[in-house]
Amino acid sequence: MSSEETLLREEILKLKQRRRAIILAHNYQRDEVQEIADFTGDSLELSRTASTIDCDVIVFAGVNFMAESASILSPDKTVLLTEIEAGCPMADMIHVDSPRRERKSFPGFHNPPPYIYPKEFTLRDIKSRHPGVPVVAYVNTTADVKAESHICCTSANIVKVIESLPVETVISVPDKNLSMWAQRNTKKKVIAWDGYCHVHERVTPADVLKARGEHPMALVMAHPECRLDVLEMADQVTSTSGMLRFAKSSVEKEFIIGTEIGLLYRLRKENPDKVFYPLRKDMICPNMKKTTLKSIFRALRENTYIIRVSEEIRVPARKALDRMLAIA
Ligand code: 13P
Ligand code: SF4
Repeated sequence: MSSEETLLREEILKLKQRRRAIILAHNYQRDEVQEIADFTGDSLELSRTASTIDCDVIVFAGVNFMAESASILSPDKTVLLTEIEAGCPMADMIHVDSPRRERKSFPGFHNPPPYIYPKEFTLRDIKSRHPGVPVVAYVNTTADVKAESHICCTSANIVKVIESLPVETVISVPDKNLSMWAQRNTKKKVIAWDGYCHVHERVTPADVLKARGEHPMALVMAHPECRLDVLEMADQVTSTSGMLRFAKSSVEKEFIIGTEIGLLYRLRKENPDKVFYPLRKDMICPNMKKTTLKSIFRALRENTYIIRVSEEIRVPARKALDRMLAIA
């Protein structure tokens, strides 16, 4: 560690104490950011922590929708997003509404599954075609999309969330891959939307074959944001923290990791006797990597960047998050 980094770490710890702040970091953050965080986790764990933690300030080392969720759940706390430009392209794909356009029909929808609405459909367009069908919003959505939804879910609990609803059909937005994975694991009908995460979508079955060829003893873990044909080839499909738990409890020694490479930091740290290979070395989320120790220091010193959601959006969005958090 350089002397500049040591100094920065000391200053962050001092400021953190002075401001009664807590640093939350997603599993995809840079190694040094995960190192200084008070809590590192997947989206579900981070939401739970944000709703229960005792502090004045939450410093969120993650992307915009995560800090928004923290603010929705803890409106009395100051929630800081370490880098204002750290967004999630998937969350930004879907919109609640847009200027009205007349659409007479959607031919694809009457065909056999999968039921995936194309991108030009807004959330309200889909809802209007399925009155009474509840919307399950992945937490990787903006606050206004959550506010327009019945319940939230994460990659760790989507099937459980869908199964908890007393209906036979749900609308699941925005990730088509996660939705199709859920469809594979429930008898209910899942109506999806054509969103995706560019980091996970790029993985192909050929990548899995290549990695297996290079590491024949390794188990393949894949995140449900990967394509269905990739997930079908994996030994384990789970969220980032699900991968951490699986690696720890498995008797196997080698693993190929099909998610953002930031997860390798904790996998290696928590399992020094095991070996982890990235499924693709370029599974890097540029937005997750925007935060550095300097961003955290600046956030604490200058109170940047405050994330707050208007009450009009916050109250219904909170209902959707609370419904998810109520599911054990
Ligand atoms: P999880 O950590 O919940 O698996 O989510 C992955 C993700 O893409 C967050 O942006
Ligand atoms: Fe969004 Fe994908 Fe980055 Fe997660 S990894 S923040 S889903 S772009």
